Amino acid sequence: MLSVVTVGLLLSLAPLFVLCVPPIWTQPEQVHLSYPGFPGSMEITWTTFNETDESVVEYGLWGGQVFEFTAKGNTTLFVDGGSEKRKMYIHRVTLNDLRPAAAYVYHCGSKAGWSDVFAFTALNKSSSWSPRFAIYGDMGNENPQSLARLQKDTQVGMYDAILHVGDFAYDMDEDNGRIGDEFMRQIESIAAYVPYMTCPGNHESAYNFSNYKNRFSMPGRTEGLWYSWNVGSAHIISLSTEIYFFLDYGLDLIFKQYDWLKKDLEEANRPENRAERPWIITMGHRPMYCSDNDKDDCTTFQSYVRLGRNDTNPPAPGLEDLLYLHGVDLELWAHEHTYERLWPVYGYKVFNGSVDEPYVNPRAPVHIITGSAGCREKHDPFVPNPRDWSAFRSTDYGYTRMQVSNSTHLYLEQVSDDQFGKVIDSIWVVKEKHGFSSWF
Ligand SMILES: [Fe+2]
Repeated sequence: MLSVVTVGLLLSLAPLFVLCVPPIWTQPEQVHLSYPGFPGSMEITWTTFNETDESVVEYGLWGGQVFEFTAKGNTTLFVDGGSEKRKMYIHRVTLNDLRPAAAYVYHCGSKAGWSDVFAFTALNKSSSWSPRFAIYGDMGNENPQSLARLQKDTQVGMYDAILHVGDFAYDMDEDNGRIGDEFMRQIESIAAYVPYMTCPGNHESAYNFSNYKNRFSMPGRTEGLWYSWNVGSAHIISLSTEIYFFLDYGLDLIFKQYDWLKKDLEEANRPENRAERPWIITMGHRPMYCSDNDKDDCTTFQSYVRLGRNDTNPPAPGLEDLLYLHGVDLELWAHEHTYERLWPVYGYKVFNGSVDEPYVNPRAPVHIITGSAGCREKHDPFVPNPRDWSAFRSTDYGYTRMQVSNSTHLYLEQVSDDQFGKVIDSIWVVKEKHGFSSWF
């Protein structure tokens, strides 16, 4: 029998015993969606900090039987490259055979913990509907000024997908990955409701882009570095511009991406494919052209992304000719913390459709730079006198909206968050025909 003194001593030490027991982190968090690239599918990705027995999504049609269906997936262990070697368990489940354009409710997790309930609409598989997007790059954990407006826009149903054109969190690896965790929690209010499609930026470079590769789930087998997908009448290609700058991670990546891109563009240009999905749209982080007053190479003629690199062995090809020769209609970029719309441009020359209607049957790709969502680095300044290919510039925080209306019409507008959601720029790109021959 324990004496009163012993019991008293044990009770006084009880808080220490409690502190020594590590908490159990099996509660799902950082829930986000992505489109795996085949009709009727949706992928759900989330994080736990302890391992769970399984990764499960329970889901059902909106208004139908709650959680009528169950899908199981897999877990991968991600060890952040920082000094603490923090462990995260990344769970991925793909839903298949979804009814096109139907709304679903879901939660994810396991018997050890379930997420909140979220909802999404399965992508319509028809090529004749009109998908709507929000597009931006360079959004951070600190000063993400556009985030609140994007959250509300998304939750009232304004978008079918988000395109985040590189640079997340600033930076995801910081504080041993905790900044990445916090950023992924911040965007859950967007990304748990619509597919959140990404490409890598320079801020993801730590430990060979491992936070980017592990936290997102993009189509294809390149860990999200490059891939393509179809939606409505558009074929959307996501590229890594960073492979031109971080050569320590492999010069061969430039050639691998180039070869893949050439094949992908050839396939998209097969007559039956281009007829069904005439719009070819690319997204990549660092632009080929810009008129910002900083040290980036897009202010000069020698952009690595545009012309490739001659200082490597062998020399590495750039992307401008390849995209032009395959009739890419629209090129989306970020990295510069501004918004800039270009006149149709190729080889530093303007190729407007006509004087009065520059974007009606343009004779070169249209470029949009949209990297002003908001981050701790704030804005980039513009040079005072831009070149003649620069059509419109703004340093307001904001983001771009796009609707691919049909096979001939595509709408773009720029939202200023500084001006409380005012649309400060808009264009219709109109193309009666697509492909290389449309330039002439
Ligand atoms: Fe960047």
